Amino acid sequence: MPQGFIPGSRAPLGIDALLTATALSALLLAFSIFSVRVRRNYSRHRNLQRAISVLLLISLVFFEVSVHMHGWRAQAQGAALSDWLPPLLTIHIVIAMIAASAWITTLTLALCRFPKPPAPAEHSITHKKLALLTTVLIYLTASSGLLFYLLAFVF
Ligand code: HEM
Repeated sequence: MPQGFIPGSRAPLGIDALLTATALSALLLAFSIFSVRVRRNYSRHRNLQRAISVLLLISLVFFEVSVHMHGWRAQAQGAALSDWLPPLLTIHIVIAMIAASAWITTLTLALCRFPKPPAPAEHSITHKKLALLTTVLIYLTASSGLLFYLLAFVF
């Protein structure tokens, strides 16, 4: 696979692309939550949540295609703490799958149940609980992915 673009890393292109998209999504998610909680800008929050979903979906498809075509293990060879990589990857994938299910549920219910344009409604109580769970899971996914990236391709 072509070499990635993050300086100081051995990672292939598909993995650098997913890492960049995840970091950008984490920042956009923080801004989206700020927009809804502090600014009460519900439409911007909805638009950002939709944009983050598209960004993550596109980068995940690109990542899957490139990793299946070219793999990543050759670039991780010689990594310090290489024994930790398989269990860490399993933990990361399990958290990521739960986070993706929570994200899809929260997004779909919000799009179906909030009024248009979006505003607080009967669905708010359920949405706030699901949103907290989803947000925690997304940040856990991002941090476990970053830890894996650093151990496999940087150190
Ligand atoms: C995965 C997608 C989403 C996540 C993670 C998310 C996250 C959040 C968070 C963290 C809050 C603040 C909760 C609080 O104040 O305790 C919130 C509030 C809100 N969200 Fe979302 N959201 C998502 C999608 C959407 C969508 C698509 C819409 C609109 C169709 C929407 C509409 C709202 C509204 C109206 C509120 C304010 C609820 C209230 O204060 O009564 N959200 N969301």
